[in-house]
Amino acid sequence: MSVRRSTPVPSVLITGTTSGVGRALLEHYDHAGSAVISVNRRRVPQLESRHPRVRFEHADVRSPEAVEALFDRLVRDRQLPTVLILNAGINRVDNDETFQLPSFREVVDTNLYGVLAFVAALTRLPPGPVARHVVAISSMANYVGNPYGLGYHASKRALTSCFDVWSQMYSGSDLVFQQVMLGPVPTTIYDMGEHFPAWVRRTKDAFSGSLDGAVQAITQLAQTRKKKLVYPKRAVPLYVGMYLGQSLVPGLFRGRKTLNAQPRRPVPKSE
Ligand SMILES: NC(=O)c1ccc[n+]([C@@H]2O[C@H](COP(=O)([O-])OP(=O)(O)OC[C@H]3O[C@@H](n4cnc5c(N)ncnc54)[C@H](OP(=O)(O)O)[C@@H]3O)[C@@H](O)[C@H]2O)c1
Repeated sequence: MSVRRSTPVPSVLITGTTSGVGRALLEHYDHAGSAVISVNRRRVPQLESRHPRVRFEHADVRSPEAVEALFDRLVRDRQLPTVLILNAGINRVDNDETFQLPSFREVVDTNLYGVLAFVAALTRLPPGPVARHVVAISSMANYVGNPYGLGYHASKRALTSCFDVWSQMYSGSDLVFQQVMLGPVPTTIYDMGEHFPAWVRRTKDAFSGSLDGAVQAITQLAQTRKKKLVYPKRAVPLYVGMYLGQSLVPGLFRGRKTLNAQPRRPVPKSE
């Protein structure tokens, strides 16, 4: 990975390192010489053998008990990291022909509660002599959500609200709350691309950032006390355009048709 090297942080915990942004961060920090703790819900033997210095922990971030137990192990081993990048996340179609509560809940449990469990454990720690940076990977979907992936939009909005509050509340303390408003970067996260026309996918690709760029932006943010970072900046006009389109053109990007282009529900005859 050809990411510009910055001063290595002493120790970092990253959730969701089996693919995408998390995996690229793991590679970056391991090569930079940081002590890395990787938190995944499943074992990937090839990944673990490729990074023998990394401490691989297994926890599903949806389980507060598993996250609590993980913290207990790290405290016991005096290995609490100075940077925590709470990256694990999923996306699902949960609001197409009908609203799918189990899928919505799965997304919110992962993207929101899977981060809040770490914050709960961290804020219970006594204040320490070193700063701990807590970096949430939020999304530009905050500003313009995909109506068919409602859990994703709702979870990232709530995540950003929580981090906005905590970054103010703990300002100047040993807990530094930071968030990345990430726009499109090429990973395996589900983006419903197969449901949209080719021009939509091409437009999105044209405004996407790179995985290297995302890693560089996130790692540099974690070396500052800045509260928020937007990456890639090139996606901003896309989201501004979509936001204006939604506001000015009735029904645009509102999911009034199903993903199969069927009208949602008929107007009652009595009206
Ligand atoms: N890529 C984008 O365009 C984009 C844009 C905005 C924001 N983001 C955010 O960036 C973050 C990383 O996403 P990505 O694009 O790198 O997606 P990705 O390639 O799908 O990676 C997601 C990671 O999260 C892990 N994960 C999912 N559920 C988990 C759970 N319950 N417990 C522990 N780990 C879990 C996955 O593990 P498994 O392999 O076990 O599923 C995987 O390692 C997410 O928070 C996403 O919302 C991405």
